[in-house]
Amino acid sequence: MNDLYADWAWIYDTYYPDRTGEVCFWAGQAERYGRRVLDLMCGTAEVSLELARRGYRVLGVDLSPAMLAVAGQRLAAAADYPARGLSLVQGEACTLPVTGAAFDFVLVGGNGSFSHLDDDLALASLREIWRLLRPGGGLGLELMNPHLLKEVYPRRTFGPLRPTPPGVMVEKSVANRYDPRAGLFHIEQVTRYEIDGQRGETAESFALRVWQPDEIQALLAGAGFGESRLYGGYDLQPFDRWSSDLLVLAERLPEPLP
Ligand SMILES: C[S@@+](CC[C@H](N)C(=O)[O-])C[C@H]1O[C@@H](n2cnc3c(N)ncnc32)[C@H](O)[C@@H]1O
Repeated sequence: MNDLYADWAWIYDTYYPDRTGEVCFWAGQAERYGRRVLDLMCGTAEVSLELARRGYRVLGVDLSPAMLAVAGQRLAAAADYPARGLSLVQGEACTLPVTGAAFDFVLVGGNGSFSHLDDDLALASLREIWRLLRPGGGLGLELMNPHLLKEVYPRRTFGPLRPTPPGVMVEKSVANRYDPRAGLFHIEQVTRYEIDGQRGETAESFALRVWQPDEIQALLAGAGFGESRLYGGYDLQPFDRWSSDLLVLAERLPEPLP
């Protein structure tokens, strides 16, 4: 398995702003359905842990050993955290290593996680989610707003949004290209870092699937979910071309898969 996050998992969190609003949003959604939550493509499990701290019983699943290693460190360092609330498992979204579990709510958060999946994997993964959700259980997907991709994300270099560990400096350069016909957002990124005076560099090149609102709604319907609702961000404002995100919420239908 090629782990796309292998070289930069250790600084992944520093490039995210404070995630309190996001955690409150997902906690509010989960609250409507029940306490058993699957955080699919959980990455470093920052959101998973905060949900566990709020009393949810969370399973975090991710493909990347590097991201899960950071998640494990986070868990080990969380002295206040009741260990039974969060479990982490390595797994592929379309063949989840989970049997006999039922979840009340599944989230695929982190702007772009679901977009790592191509069309076939995306459908297969939604069917896996359907298998693991109880009838009537909820699903939330956070996707990129395709309208914004045409206008923002130029080639640029930027520093982390959060403090880095002592003695560590990092800087990321990205060059992005949106291909609306193919529905793909191509990303080339280089991360340069210095740890205690020693310089290093990582480079990744990958494409994310950009879902149009009607495409993702059709995909969800084909995977056994009821009518999906589109929002533009965590405050649940209506989705429009200027929205920061495309948030999609839906419920699992009770019927067997179409
Ligand atoms: C942008 S990160 C988001 C992580 C996390 N959800 C967050 O909000 O920080 C995307 C994650 O998706 C995971 N991922 C990519 N493809 C996957 C797959 N096929 N199955 C499971 N996880 C996958 C990556 O390993 C990575 O940790």
